[in-house]
Amino acid sequence: MNDVSEQDRHGALQSLLERRSVGTLEAPAPTDPEIDTIVDAGLRAPDHGRLRPWRFVLIRGEARSAFGACLVAAARKRDASSPQSLLDRYQAWAMRTPLLIAVGTKISARHFIPEVEQLLSAGAAAMNMLNAVHLLGYGGMWVTGPNSYDLDVNAALGFHAPDRLVGLLAIGTARAITKVERPDRAAHLSEWTPPIDADLQALRSA
Ligand SMILES: Cc1cc2nc3c(=O)[nH]c(=O)nc-3n(C[C@H](O)[C@H](O)[C@H](O)COP(=O)(O)O)c2cc1C
Repeated sequence: MNDVSEQDRHGALQSLLERRSVGTLEAPAPTDPEIDTIVDAGLRAPDHGRLRPWRFVLIRGEARSAFGACLVAAARKRDASSPQSLLDRYQAWAMRTPLLIAVGTKISARHFIPEVEQLLSAGAAAMNMLNAVHLLGYGGMWVTGPNSYDLDVNAALGFHAPDRLVGLLAIGTARAITKVERPDRAAHLSEWTPPIDADLQALRSA
């Protein structure tokens, strides 16, 4: 057992159960030490084979404008007739989001650890980071969309195939938090029961 008190553990768990994604964010962003904590939470993701596949790229301050321009250029290249309103939305989103953390995976190709597990590990890192963002009192949201799958956007962030971006974490102070209905547990949970003997025999002789 670690040295966290029972009360602290309970409080953290309660807070974790209340996490929700927040799309309407404003300044301030987490401080540098808080960002370190968020990244450290990502680095605690499960990782088959100790490949340490995760890569995190911070996009903040002045760089957000250039990143917005990169999203706009990529969208234009994908579709020359992209409506200006969509391009403006990409640019405005990048500029108003206090902090973006691009989460990606460095893929070890032809490794005995399947590629999907390397991707899942990056997904687990992203989730750990969102939980840390929440526990630090900030809001965050995992965003993908066509830009996250765009090779130019991937390359701009340093992800060259087979490496890839798994998403952008938009992070800041929550402007408004509304309570969200969580899915019904019973609809997602069952208990596996072994087949009765007769079924087992049938399976064995099949
Ligand atoms: C891999 C992944 C990509 C996502 N991409 C988007 C996205 O591009 N735009 C969006 O509005 N929500 C996206 N979402 C959903 C939100 O991050 C969020 O989970 C959703 O709004 C539900 O909110 P909740 O986390 O509070 O249940 C994505 C979720 C995942 C797991």
